[in-house]
This record gives sequence, C-alpha cells and structure tokens, in this order.
Amino acid sequence: MSQSLHAPASPRSFQSVLVTGGAGFIGSHVIRRLLAEHSTMVLVNLDALTYAGNLANLKDVESNPRYHFQRGDIRDESLVTQLFREHAFDAVIHLAAESHVDRSITHPLAFLETNILGTANLLNVARQQWSERRCMETSLFYHVSTDEVYGSLGAEGLFSETTPYDPRSPYSASKASSDHVVRAYHHTYGMPIVISNCSNNYGSHQFPEKLIPLMIRNIVDSRPLPIYGEGINIRDWLWVEDHAAAIDTILHTGWVGDTYNIGGLNEWRNIDLVRKLIELVDAELGREPGFSDSLITFVKDRAGHDMRYAIDASHLEARLGWKPSITFEQGLTSTVQWYLANGAWLEDVTSGDYQKYYEQHYDNR
Ligand SMILES: NC(=O)c1ccc[n+]([C@@H]2O[C@H](COP(=O)([O-])OP(=O)(O)OC[C@H]3O[C@@H](n4cnc5c(N)ncnc54)[C@H](O)[C@@H]3O)[C@@H](O)[C@H]2O)c1
Repeated sequence: MSQSLHAPASPRSFQSVLVTGGAGFIGSHVIRRLLAEHSTMVLVNLDALTYAGNLANLKDVESNPRYHFQRGDIRDESLVTQLFREHAFDAVIHLAAESHVDRSITHPLAFLETNILGTANLLNVARQQWSERRCMETSLFYHVSTDEVYGSLGAEGLFSETTPYDPRSPYSASKASSDHVVRAYHHTYGMPIVISNCSNNYGSHQFPEKLIPLMIRNIVDSRPLPIYGEGINIRDWLWVEDHAAAIDTILHTGWVGDTYNIGGLNEWRNIDLVRKLIELVDAELGREPGFSDSLITFVKDRAGHDMRYAIDASHLEARLGWKPSITFEQGLTSTVQWYLANGAWLEDVTSGDYQKYYEQHYDNR
C-alpha cells in the first residue's frame, strides 16, 4: 500500500490523546500547552518514570480532570492495549525515549530497547486498536524525533527534511530507526502518521545533566564548567515552549505522512553559549562581570562528537505557518531566571528526592 501525502480537510480535533514520556522535559511542556489550548481534550500521560521523569514538572496540572497519569513502560503491550481500550485514544503523541547522548555511549542497549522496540510496540497496538474500532483514518500517530538523525554538518548548510539519515551515536541511531519504523507503518498499513525532527531544546524543567541547566547550576555554585574538546561544536537552540507550540500546530494541521523539521536558526558554539550563561547568571546574582570566567574547564571530547547541527525549518513555516515566538536572548534570560527562582526543584532533582514524588502523591490514590 503506497500512501500519498495529504493535508487534513480542516484542522483536526482530538478528544482523547495518549502522550508518552509526559513527565520528561519536553513532554511536560506539551501536556501543559495542550490542556491550556484545547478545552475538551483529555490527555493520558504514560511514563515509566526513569531517572529523567519528574512528576513535579506537572504539579500545576495534576488535579485537572482532563489529565491522567499512568506509570508504565511503552514496551508493555498489555498495558498499552488496556489503555487504548479504556480511553479510546484518537491520537498518540510519542515523546518517551532515552534521550541523553552520553548515557547512550555507556548504555547503548537501553536506548535501542526503549527507542526502537518501545516505538514499535506503540505502533503495533495503535494499529490493532484503530483497525478494530474502524477509526484508522481519523486517528493520528505523532512521533517526536530529533535532528541528530541527520548526522553532523560541516561549516556550511542546514538539515532539511530530505537530508539523508546518517546517525552517529547509539542515541541518534535508535531515534533514526524509530523514525523508519513509523514511516514503515504508514506505507505498509496506511497508518496516519506525522514526524517532527527538532533541534536542541532549552527552557525550564530540563534535567540538569543537559548543557544549559548543568552550566547554570555550576555557575551559581562556583563549580567547574566542563566543556568538551575546544568547545567549538555548534548546536541550534530552540525554546522548549516554541517546540511545544510547533507540536500543537503539527498535531492539528500537519499533513498525513509528512515530516517537519523544527528549529529557530539559532546556532551557538558551546563555548560562546557557556560564556553567555556566565554573563547572564553573574548579572542576575549581582556579581562583577567576568566573576565566573575562570570556572571554564575543557575536558576530553565526547566519543564521536558531532561537530555541527543546524535546522532549516522553512517547510514547517511555509506549510503550517509556525515560527518561534521569542528571541534567544529573551528565552535564555527567562530560563536563567526560572532556574534561579526554582532552586528547590533543582535541589530535589540533584538529591534524587524527586523520585519520591510518585509514592508521595500517587501511590495511595
Ligand atoms: N531535549 C531535546 O533537546 C530534544 C530535541 C529534539 C527531540 N527530542 C526528543 O523529544 C523527546 C523528549 O525529549 P526530552 O528531552 O523531554 O527527554 P527526557 O529524557 O527529559 O524525557 C523522557 C521521558 O520518557 C520517559 N521514558 C523513558 N523510557 C520510557 C519507557 N520505556 N516507557 C515510558 N516512558 C519512558 C522518562 O521517564 C521521561 O519522563 C525524545 O523522544 C527526544 O528524542 C529532544
């Protein structure tokens, strides 16, 4: 069965949506946005609560009657089937993943299992359930992916939707594989799908193993700021709430079978970004300019470190009209202010106390 690309006749409206990985960084922003923007949408958040899942990220919506949390693994076929039967989902937004490149270098199999087999399990159950309910055509499987599937760029050029896949880390290889499986379900079984590949995200509620929250925390505490190699690797940064807005747009108006690159044309060398963070954090804390410069510490480069990522998001802008809503200066300043104002959140994550949130708030319900 060969599937052609087509626009939805009118913007879609979904009533019951399964969000996977909603307790993570991006997923929590997606849930918050969808609840706020779509007044009849019911969301079920399926999340295994690995080290990266933090239910405190969703404290402000946990008593919303249109939001439900289910702890569980996306690879668990009977649990996912039971959830489909109970909630009659008409869409899946799939974000759950092992997501940290450094961990994928030390524990590659966990990435292959969750990111490939987990995605395949969700697709399989969705296919069975939507076929049984004869609602395949009006349903949608939205797979959230990364620009890292395209590999690494030289000094010139941007990743577009037609750039050949060339993943280089176990993380990006597992995400690339999952993208292929999603497309295979579209072409083979006619499953309505969309995929988006986004550049690096930053913003509130990000686990402090990732560059920006890690650096903010270390600048505040005057601890060394470890930078891989010479700090010349380049990443293209997008504010997480703009990513969530793009996901909302694509969910409702994205063409069936289409792929959308999401990015903000905002490239930074790691060393320049860290210098910018030093400037912002020191200013917020009333320190002299340059106070934390000496904390910069160059460390042995990451194995197979991709040199440059940069996204061309013109297809998304031209077809669906999405654009970033704020500048990097605005986004980074508000992000720094959020981490400084939420020391307790950071402290709970660092100490491991955040992992008690489920037992304290959900276990007895
Ligand atoms: N963070 C970025 O910059 C970025 C950029 C582009 C794309 N993405 C993609 O967006 C998605 C979300 O990224 P993130 O940064 O929010 O990740 P994250 O690591 O913060 O969150 C991942 C969530 O998935 C959950 N999870 C992990 N394994 C699971 C399993 N087997 N079953 C159920 N839940 C499981 C975790 O508990 C966690 O809550 C990922 O698919 C990632 O590849 C991330």
